[in-house]
Amino acid sequence: MSGTLNDHPDFVYLLREFEMLYRHGSAGGSTAIRGHRKRVRDELSRIFAANPPFDPRAASLKPVTAHLSRGLDLGERGNMQGMARALREIRETLTWEYGYDRVPPALAKKYAYCEILGPRGPIVWDRLILGFVLFAPRTTYPQHSHSKIEESYISVAGAWSENNAAVYAPGSLILNRPGDEHRITTGERDPCLLAYAWAGPAEQLGDPGMKFTGRRKPQG
Ligand SMILES: [Fe+2]
Repeated sequence: MSGTLNDHPDFVYLLREFEMLYRHGSAGGSTAIRGHRKRVRDELSRIFAANPPFDPRAASLKPVTAHLSRGLDLGERGNMQGMARALREIRETLTWEYGYDRVPPALAKKYAYCEILGPRGPIVWDRLILGFVLFAPRTTYPQHSHSKIEESYISVAGAWSENNAAVYAPGSLILNRPGDEHRITTGERDPCLLAYAWAGPAEQLGDPGMKFTGRRKPQG
């Protein structure tokens, strides 16, 4: 352990950026998105009040993190500059990972994520996960879904599409409800950096069991 959240002001300010986005952004008239935003910011209020433990993890890079500087640069030029700058301050501490037992080799070069809050830390909290996903240009992130977990992405930099349904620009929020199948593609030139939130039961967030949607039946 290394103290509590308040001993790490850069992380406090990063959480404040999440809070601002989930408090002041529009729900676009969607009841489901309004409910999700409220769920995330209510949890953030509890986190600020509780000042949870801070348990740093070993920093770790993945091949895609070669694109992080460009993603942050793009983020700092646009309407997500607050988030991009706050993330830049802690970039050396991040634990980039894959989250799957088996990652297709092509994807291993083009994708990784890092958590800043959740059951595994560094800000230790068991009812919410906050983090970032980074994709290289021209990436397809295969179809998958999350059991019992509500997932939202907010674009920080880059353009991307989910389920071939639209192109999302920085500042957009996309909600994937539990079980919703989704597949992501990214634009041709720029990396794509997304902030994300997972809300769900503590036991599920502690062991999300991430799997791509394959042709075989699930093993249980
Ligand atoms: Fe997802």
